[in-house]
Amino acid sequence: MPATVIVGAQWGDEGKGKIVDLLAQDSDVVCRYQGGPNAGHTIVVGDETYKIRALPSGIVRGKPCVIGNGCVVDLEVLIGELDEFESRGQDTSKVYLSGNAHLIMPWHLAIDQASERRLGKLAIGTTRRGIGPCYADKAMRLGIRVQDILDPKILRQKIEVALAEKNLWLVRVYESEPFDLETIAAQYESYAQRVRPYVTDTSLYVDQVLRDGKVVLFEGAQATLLDLDHGTYPFVTSSNPVAPNAATGVGIGANRIDRVIGVAKAYVTRVGEGPFPSEIQGADQDRMRELGHEYGTVTGRSRRCGWLDLVALRYAVRVNGIDQLALTKLDVLSHFSELPVCVSYRLRNDVETRDFPAHQSDFHAARPVYETLPGWEEPLDACASVDDLPASARRYVELVERELGVEVTLIGTGAERTSVLTRA
Ligand code: IMP
Repeated sequence: MPATVIVGAQWGDEGKGKIVDLLAQDSDVVCRYQGGPNAGHTIVVGDETYKIRALPSGIVRGKPCVIGNGCVVDLEVLIGELDEFESRGQDTSKVYLSGNAHLIMPWHLAIDQASERRLGKLAIGTTRRGIGPCYADKAMRLGIRVQDILDPKILRQKIEVALAEKNLWLVRVYESEPFDLETIAAQYESYAQRVRPYVTDTSLYVDQVLRDGKVVLFEGAQATLLDLDHGTYPFVTSSNPVAPNAATGVGIGANRIDRVIGVAKAYVTRVGEGPFPSEIQGADQDRMRELGHEYGTVTGRSRRCGWLDLVALRYAVRVNGIDQLALTKLDVLSHFSELPVCVSYRLRNDVETRDFPAHQSDFHAARPVYETLPGWEEPLDACASVDDLPASARRYVELVERELGVEVTLIGTGAERTSVLTRA
């Protein structure tokens, strides 16, 4: 399959980085198509742990990596990662950065932070990395793009225009400090020197590698339920993680995508605010968090934990066109004697539904209907294939396949990059 999209099927942190890392072995190029340093991928290779926010996870495999036009880029973060990878002996010469990607500027960070503070109890719980304000400026046509840094005159002019408005906003509305034009212009001119060699027409590049019959992975950041259009708005990110956006976010036709692999944890986690029907109540919530090390890669925040939600996953299969599923962290469930799985929701009028509610109030009020499966209560470390899994673990996977009508082709059984069972 030349073009495969890897998409998070829940609220993020499903372990996409690990699946991309695995599939990248047999791929030629890895592309990111949306999001920015709000994403955090942890990849464990032997004794080394890589935490990446800006670069596609394929970098760990030494593959050519594309940061597509649909991404937002914080140059300070990107340069930090490039420096770190180089200092660890990795080659970064095959990083291709779209000139059309938008830059997260210092005022975007300041506005994200100030606006969350101001919202108080109504805060979205963003990663405070400036993502929303940056995408908002893109839509407002006020944004500064990667290509703008190639010309110091244009860059300075764009910063000046943006600051004229942003400083007013920061000082008058948020009672924050204004930014100084000279300081920012000098800082970005120096960033420009560092990233200039990476700036590429990435649409042309990806089109060419696909024409050459190469294998390309498209790596989504965040996930389906955080999608600006299809997620649990307003508790979402400001871009479209869903698989169809891989084409737009990189600049190829929709018909070039051959396969969509959804990645779901064997349970569910969520960071930030918003409704979460299968959220675990009581002591198992903390137990699951500790067993699964459920703390944010970017913010270190505790993740909320829940039982597997097949209503939400059924929806993810629909809006992404998921062909196959990767089920990660199955080993974390080894510690539970009983495993509730949410198969439908009960709505306010007592109607039971297997479909994800289209109206936010229905979703807010939805109560989970569980089918409880017996746990397997034994470690999965020794399993070399799906057939080695304990019978109860196989039943768990089969329930997912039956309910979703999608095959589970990859199963995560531990943190190591080798702990993934594959099924053809
Ligand atoms: P933003 O993307 O920083 O604007 O945050 C919007 C929402 O998306 C918040 O609920 C964040 O916690 C969530 N979010 C953003 N990136 C990630 C991620 O990589 N994993 C999980 N949640 C995320």
